[in-house]
Amino acid sequence: MYTEKVMDHFEHPRNVGEIENASGTGTVGNAKCGDIMRIYLDIDDDQIIRDVKFKTFGCGAAVATSSMATELIKGKSVQEAMAVTNKAVCEALDGLPPVKVHCSLLAEEAIHAALWDYATKHGIEISGLQKPKSDIGEEEVEEDY
Ligand code: FES
Repeated sequence: MYTEKVMDHFEHPRNVGEIENASGTGTVGNAKCGDIMRIYLDIDDDQIIRDVKFKTFGCGAAVATSSMATELIKGKSVQEAMAVTNKAVCEALDGLPPVKVHCSLLAEEAIHAALWDYATKHGIEISGLQKPKSDIGEEEVEEDY
């Protein structure tokens, strides 16, 4: 059901942890399953992502996609990181089962939320970046179950 790459990143997730005094952090949640992800970015003066760490309280697919997403954005510029969409992450993992594709959205949203945090703190504009809608602090609890 899962590709070898997904299993590898699930069993040996890269870049797990946190960064003290991170340049930007983003926390997002999936209201349906309750899974939560936080991303920490260390960005230098040239807007290059020097380090990235994540913590995921979530399913295996969420762990694997966050792990791959952190690998894909490490060493990239903040603008290049915008191209790391959930689709790009899924492709890098050789695909996810269709019912699990939504899990990969958490990684993309968490990266965007962390970039937004960085951009607002530093007065920088990142083209194409929008205010995160599912910041966990503001999230409304769905009551449909
Ligand atoms: Fe919640 Fe995968 S089931 S992120």
